Amino acid sequence: YSLLHHNTFGMDQQCDEYLEFTSTADAVAASAYIREHADRPLLILGGGSNLLLTHDFQGIVVSPEQRFEVHAEADGKGNTLLRCWAGCTFDAVVAYAVAHQMYGLENLSLIPGQCGASAVQNIGAYGAEAKDTLTSVEAVEIATGRQVTIPAEDCEYAYRQSRFKHEWRDKYLITWVVYRLSSVFSPRLDYGNIRRVLEEDHIAVDTLTAQQLRDAIIRIRQAKLPDPVVLGNGGSFFMNPIVDVATFERLKAEHPDLRYFDAPDEQQGSEKHYKIPAGWLIDQCGWKGKQLGRAGVYEKQALVLVNLGGATGKDVVALMHAIQADVREKFGLELKPEVNIR
Ligand code: EPU
Repeated sequence: YSLLHHNTFGMDQQCDEYLEFTSTADAVAASAYIREHADRPLLILGGGSNLLLTHDFQGIVVSPEQRFEVHAEADGKGNTLLRCWAGCTFDAVVAYAVAHQMYGLENLSLIPGQCGASAVQNIGAYGAEAKDTLTSVEAVEIATGRQVTIPAEDCEYAYRQSRFKHEWRDKYLITWVVYRLSSVFSPRLDYGNIRRVLEEDHIAVDTLTAQQLRDAIIRIRQAKLPDPVVLGNGGSFFMNPIVDVATFERLKAEHPDLRYFDAPDEQQGSEKHYKIPAGWLIDQCGWKGKQLGRAGVYEKQALVLVNLGGATGKDVVALMHAIQADVREKFGLELKPEVNIR
């Protein structure tokens, strides 16, 4: 079975078996099948927008059926609990929420992938993260077939992190994700160039609607992130490194033009940390717009590695290593991939 249409990098790799579940009951059945074939490697796939396949997958790929199904329910406190099938396209949920006066997801507009993956990866953009609204995750435990509802507090969400990526990796089939959305629109405009883009488009901040904010975010993304339909990619290829004060001061002394953000401290304890944009580091190493074989660094955003057509996963990994080596040499920092390399 070809995974070509199941990964946005456009890697033409095969898997032995492709299993799709369409409901919670179906996920229970899928978990039984997986247990019966426990000797075979397992890959749980969402939209495949954060995945780099480097070879054929000799095992079972399991994925929720891609379809739009959401259920809205009032929480009695002026919020809506929007329960979304794991295989919903995340951006379709954002569009739906905005159209139905449910607020909190606007800044996450146009992020590729599915709702299930939003709960694994804690997707984020423009000053918002999935964990800001995510309240619970419904899943089937593969080892037992048991249905569980996991409160977001138990998922240890942090910057692009959750327990689903660590000790819970390959342990659950996520079936539904619940987001708590507000009936009050409270725009978050302080990340990067949001305010400037609104101004350029003559949109007044005091009359701003959620739809206008969504449209602005879409324009910002489209201006610097490649459309995977046109140019295969997995979004940000690396995570932005988070450094302590001592490292930050060394970097600032060596590179006075250093770009940085304050890192939220929830995942590092109380000591102050800084987030250094990996895109800037890669750009400084001269990689932007360059290529190695058929793999390239996107010309408008150095954080995104692209398939220029005909690249293999191994070509992209070779490019990754070359970039990591240069960033290590120039900045003494280790870039960690954000995409799942399999
Ligand atoms: N920069 C450069 N050169 C580049 C790219 C960036 O100098 O080629 C500089 C920019 O000028 C800016 C800074 O780096 O000062 C940060 O750039 P940007 O605002 O574009 O965001 P980012 O840190 O590169 C992160 C997320 C993106 C998300 C944006 C917007 C990660 C790994 N990436 O990128 O997420 O869309 O912020 O919030 O945290 C994704 O995860 O797939 C993704 C696209």
